[in-house]
Amino acid sequence: MGFEGKVVVVTGASSGIGEALCRKLLQQGAKVVMAARNISKMQQIASDYEDAEVMIIEADVSKKSDCEKIIHEAVGSFGEIDVLINNAGISMRAIFEDLDISVIEQLMAVNYWGTVYCTHYALPYLLKSKGSVVGVSSIAGFQGLPARTGYSSSKFAMHGFLNTLRVETLKQDLHVMIACPGFTASNIRNTALTADGKPQGDTPLEEGKLMTADDVANRILSGIARRKRSVIMTLQGKLVVFLGKFFPAMVDKMVYNHMKKEKDSPLK
Ligand code: NAI
Repeated sequence: MGFEGKVVVVTGASSGIGEALCRKLLQQGAKVVMAARNISKMQQIASDYEDAEVMIIEADVSKKSDCEKIIHEAVGSFGEIDVLINNAGISMRAIFEDLDISVIEQLMAVNYWGTVYCTHYALPYLLKSKGSVVGVSSIAGFQGLPARTGYSSSKFAMHGFLNTLRVETLKQDLHVMIACPGFTASNIRNTALTADGKPQGDTPLEEGKLMTADDVANRILSGIARRKRSVIMTLQGKLVVFLGKFFPAMVDKMVYNHMKKEKDSPLK
C-alpha cells in the first residue's frame, strides 16, 4: 500500500515515534490526523508541510470522549479512515513494592484504554475501508520487564486486545498489527513516571546509541504496507520473544541482569 491519499490517524503525534510517523506520512501525501495533548508542538510539525492535508486534534487518549472526538472529527473532515496507529504512550520506572498504585492506573489508561477507545470508535470505518489498526507496543508486551509492572501490563493487555480483535475479524479483511520497537531515542524516559507518579525528568540510557524514531517509523509504515501481523524490530527483541517461549526462566534471569545494569536501577 502506498500512503498517498490514505487517511491515517496517529495518536501521540507531538513527539518521538508519532512525530516521525506523521512527518513520513505527510511527505508521502497521506491525509494525516495528528492527535495529542500538545497542540502547539503538532502545529509546528505540520507547518513544515505547506500543501499537506493535515488535521490537528487536541486529545488526551485516556479520556473516552477525546478518543470519540478524534475519530468523529477525522471522519467529518476526510470522510473515512484507512489506518489507525495507536502510538500514544507513557512509561514508568519503579519496583512494584515502592509504587503508588495510581501509576499503574495511569499507564493502563493511556496505553491500554487509549488503544481500546480509539479502536472502538474507528472500527466501523476501518472495517469499511478494510484498513489497518496498529498498536505501537514493546517487547515489554511479551516479557515482563522489571521496574515496569504498569508498562508491561499495559502492553500485554494491548496485545490481548489486538490479537483477539484480529481473530474476531478474520473474515472481514481487517489488518491488525502489533509493532515492537527496541529502545528508541525519544522523550519517553523523561516523561516516565517514578514511584510517586512524578515524571523521571531524565533518561538512564545513552539516547544517542538507541534506535532512531525515524527508523522505527519506516519499519512501522513498511509493516502496514505489507499487512504484517507483527513487527519486532531488533535481534534482541526477537531473541527474547523466541527464547521466552521455550526457556522462560532463563529469559527472566537475562532480563533481570540486563535491567539491573541500568543507571540508578531500582532493582535489588
Ligand atoms: P514520546 O514520549 O516521545 O512520545 C509519546 C507521545 O504520546 C507524545 O506525543 C505524548 O504527548 C503522547 N501521549 C502521552 N500521553 C498521552 C495522552 N494521555 N494522550 C495523548 N497523547 C499522549 O515517546 P515514544 O518513544 O515516541 O513513544 C511512542 C510509543 O512507542 C509508546 O507507545 C511507547 O510505549 C512505544 N515504545 C517506545 C520505545 C522507546 O524506547 N522509546 C520502545 C518501545 C515502545
